[in-house]
Amino acid sequence: QDLQTHNTLGLPARAAVATLDDESAIPDLCEALSSGRETDAPLFVLGGGSNLVVAARPRRRVLRVALRGIRLWRETTTHWFVEAAAGEPWHGFVDHCLSQGWPGLENLALIPGTVGAAPVQNIGAYGLELDQRLHSVVAWDLRAGRERELRADECGFAYRDSLFKRDGAGRWLIVRVRFALPKAWAPRLDYPDLRDYPGLGSPTGGAGEIPSPRSIFDAVCDIRRRKLPDPAVQGNAGSFFKNPVIDAGQADRLRHRYPDLKAYPQADGRVKLAAGWLIEQAGWKGRRLGPVGMHERQALVLVNHGGAQSADVLALARAVRADVQARFGVDLEQEPVVLD
Ligand code: EPU
Repeated sequence: QDLQTHNTLGLPARAAVATLDDESAIPDLCEALSSGRETDAPLFVLGGGSNLVVAARPRRRVLRVALRGIRLWRETTTHWFVEAAAGEPWHGFVDHCLSQGWPGLENLALIPGTVGAAPVQNIGAYGLELDQRLHSVVAWDLRAGRERELRADECGFAYRDSLFKRDGAGRWLIVRVRFALPKAWAPRLDYPDLRDYPGLGSPTGGAGEIPSPRSIFDAVCDIRRRKLPDPAVQGNAGSFFKNPVIDAGQADRLRHRYPDLKAYPQADGRVKLAAGWLIEQAGWKGRRLGPVGMHERQALVLVNHGGAQSADVLALARAVRADVQARFGVDLEQEPVVLD
């Protein structure tokens, strides 16, 4: 099957793809996998393909998860517990929750991809990370051939990371995700772009009104549309690198040399740097290498100008990484996963 329309970078690829649209088919799938040869490459679970660099002819077999459904799974005096199937498009899910009167995910509006992929890289944006709203993940352990519910604290969540992305890759098939949305809702406006957004701002400094969840959702959509290229128009996989976290000593030395370094102290004493700033300073903002380049408004986003292959993407990533390393002594870690 052609995978070009199933990866948002728009890379040409062909692979054997099975589609999962019914949970009752999973036991048979486990059976088939366990009877496979030892040498078989592990299964690759595909959601929206929005965090993916795919090779032209991947060796791995691909399972596209198309399970659908959203429901209020449980309600207590303090929380709405909402369950969504892994194949639900993420943005539509966030929008649906707001329409039902279940706020809490609005800062994560307009993130491409599916509900099932969201915990894999612990999606985050505008001051909120998924793990802060996640109750549990219902997943099939493909090795053991049984379903399990993993609580948030069992998922190994970290910044853009989880056990599903590390050692659990190829083992867990996420089928449903459960969210805990507190009824005591409060706006999250710590992120500078949101705090400075006209009409939202600090509730005490402005007109005194607390913004609604929907107005935050709209603001996040607007900010993202201005800054980030729409994958339907120009191929990209969002941020191509993680924001690097370095020790305080190195951050001090860098700040001394570069007074306008974008640096954010972390709870553990280390310091997170804005990779987009580092890449821009290294001269890559808006610059191309062959059919790919770094975006002209957000240097952290690698874009396909047309006709790119995975090798072009990886060559640009290597060049950017080498230049940032040479200039700042900071190593950038790639965010999207590679399917080869
Ligand atoms: N910056 C530059 N030049 C650039 C890009 C950014 O100087 O070309 C500076 C900005 O001026 C700002 C700082 O870097 O001071 C941070 O930029 P921005 O607010 O755009 O956020 P980011 O750190 O580049 C992260 C996430 C995004 C998320 C935004 C908003 C990562 C790897 N990326 O980007 O997530 O939308 O914050 O919360 O953490 C994604 O993961 O695909 C993604 C888009």
